[in-house]
Amino acid sequence: MTLKISIHTMLFMLYFCKSSADVNSMYYPRYHLAPPYGWMNDPNGFSYFNNEYHLFYQHNPNSSMEPGITHWGHAKSTDLFHWEHLPIAMYPDQWFDMTGVFSGSAIVENDTMYFFYTGNLNHANEEHDHEQYQALASSADGVNVIKYKNNPVINGSEHQPNIRDPKVWKHEDTYYMVIGNSFNNNTLGRVLLYSSKDMISWEQVSVLAESDGMLGYMWECPDFFEINGLFVLLFSPQGIEPESDKYNNLFQTGYIVGTFDYVTHRFNPISKFKELDHGHDFYATQTFLDSQDRRILIAWFSMWEQNYPERIYGWAGQMTIPRELTLSPENDLIQKPVEEIAVVRDNVIYTGKNIYRSEAIALNDNTGEITLKARPSSNIELFIESEDDLAKLTISYDYNEDLVILDRGGDDGVRRTQWKPIDILIWNIFIDASSIELFCGYGEVTFSSRFFPSGNITVRLSNESFVDEIIVATMKRTVPVPED
Ligand code: FRU
Repeated sequence: MTLKISIHTMLFMLYFCKSSADVNSMYYPRYHLAPPYGWMNDPNGFSYFNNEYHLFYQHNPNSSMEPGITHWGHAKSTDLFHWEHLPIAMYPDQWFDMTGVFSGSAIVENDTMYFFYTGNLNHANEEHDHEQYQALASSADGVNVIKYKNNPVINGSEHQPNIRDPKVWKHEDTYYMVIGNSFNNNTLGRVLLYSSKDMISWEQVSVLAESDGMLGYMWECPDFFEINGLFVLLFSPQGIEPESDKYNNLFQTGYIVGTFDYVTHRFNPISKFKELDHGHDFYATQTFLDSQDRRILIAWFSMWEQNYPERIYGWAGQMTIPRELTLSPENDLIQKPVEEIAVVRDNVIYTGKNIYRSEAIALNDNTGEITLKARPSSNIELFIESEDDLAKLTISYDYNEDLVILDRGGDDGVRRTQWKPIDILIWNIFIDASSIELFCGYGEVTFSSRFFPSGNITVRLSNESFVDEIIVATMKRTVPVPED
């Protein structure tokens, strides 16, 4: 009997053996997807195929210190929390993607996964230092990915040099693609809309939306979908200036709600750009409609140029909890952890309301879910702190100003936004080794921030905070956490 192992499987085995041993688990998430080794940024090709969720991501297998030349990493899951790492799906091995297999999306049709991604090609010493091409690839088995032989499918010469991150969907018998672009000499961001009957030959049908000068110089990772009869354009603009409590991260992710007409290809906004999350680390989101018609969103849970300490431990970057999106009557996006989060919950270790200094609750494995309920009639301060006292994160509610504030300490530690609880104040908080996600109320406001406690975490309230109930649950490990 001969043993058949594909060249990619062999590379993967080598890569996995070499790499996991070098990764230190101190900051490594227990129930969020992170790379087995090396660098991770944007989620790509989020899809459901043969009864499994697939998530690809921007990945540098050669270093955790920088994105380098990105590949598509790959993981799959049956429940969005138990993830299994798979071999690298796409390598930078074509003339047009030699310096990066950049972000893109997937659709599933006829038992095949189809991928649309950007090939990045850097040039030295030329007027434009890079060009970007849109390319097609496919997989029949959900593991091995084959690039289309006549790539690229969109040359986009009139829109160079920044034209990237194709997001594709099908409506009736036509495929549509939104692509992020920069125009006016790279000073204004916009989203282009293309259509195709066969996934191969594409034609630009409109400029879906563009910056009026206030919304940045480049729009990355666009996504466009229908929800409650309206359309949401979700994108990650670069270059928006900070404005009081808004736009304080290096780059933003936000959305505009409007109407869309498939005949004229015009998008008519009915709301202004709003940030989708108010924490420090939430970027390059991607959504897809799953088999139960849920619009599920995931984001890169980090931010460019942050240089977080995990990098020196052999890995960098992770994803957020997958969230289900709905639209409120006021046309705001509401985000809730997908209901499968139940598979991560372990034991409730505390129910009560007195977790003042001496009763502080220790979080097992530096993970936990905290649910807090209170009448919104006084200020509340919740401390999440490391026993070595080096890291302290505070979440507070300012009753007079209707503000919710997250302060992770250090330079630029504070993020805040207006929030008025609809009836009672509810906070649902997820902690996972080096991250915190706060869902306020029914999901109308969220904060996603990384923080880096080196000791065991405890949770307590300030002495002046009065709440009706706090529930603390431990969480299971659902991702392969490397051993120290
Ligand atoms: C967003 C982004 C995308 C690009 C990818 C490269 O974070 O800059 O526009 O495709 O990352 O890794």
